[in-house]
Amino acid sequence: MFPGPLGTALAGRALARGTWTLDSVDIRDFAEGRHRSVDDTPAGGGPGMVLRADVVARAIDAVSVGPDGAADRRPRLLMSPRGRPLTQGWVRELAAGPGVILLCGRFEGVDERVVEGRELIEVSIGDYVLSGGEIAALAILDAVVRLLDGVMGKAESGSEESFEAGLLEYPHYTRPQVWEGRTIPEVLTSGDHGAIARWRRGMAEAITEARRPDLWAARVPPDRRRT
Ligand code: ADE
Repeated sequence: MFPGPLGTALAGRALARGTWTLDSVDIRDFAEGRHRSVDDTPAGGGPGMVLRADVVARAIDAVSVGPDGAADRRPRLLMSPRGRPLTQGWVRELAAGPGVILLCGRFEGVDERVVEGRELIEVSIGDYVLSGGEIAALAILDAVVRLLDGVMGKAESGSEESFEAGLLEYPHYTRPQVWEGRTIPEVLTSGDHGAIARWRRGMAEAITEARRPDLWAARVPPDRRRT
């Protein structure tokens, strides 16, 4: 599954250049015994299987090696629908940090004791259930890698994009001027940059208020924003 889609396009070129690196580890390599099982039935009964604490801990310990044998300062994130919701702010923090260790669960869950014992931070990419953590991990990596220095070109880099000001983005248009009877809003072809900026701001605010009342209520008004 890795790097999967992150081996292509901007992220893939940055990976090939060494702007970022990825080591994937198979938890099964840390299983013991004749069956090399990584999971077992849930204590207390119930459906599905649970990833074993001892196997997960060995895998985490094996990859937790800091530079020159120093402590590994990377946060250990466990992909989980009951985790803290991922936000662009958290993505920015991760991109500025020393890297991440991502643990992808499969099965019903992971033994709670290794979540506690290895200080795993549970992270969710949305209120729906994936069949495993790999796609969530790819989503997190994609969001983080695109913010690393030198990954995105000037054109793609976005201080105006969704979430950067606590707002969803304004609508975009390009040629042709008329398509199926629909025209580009006149202000965008007026050449009046002040008017364009005001129109975009107004649209971003209207769209955010209509679609995401949660973001709208939480947003910091421009005059109280930290720079
Ligand atoms: N694993 C399964 N569902 C998930 C989700 N929504 N977010 C993160 N990890 C998951």
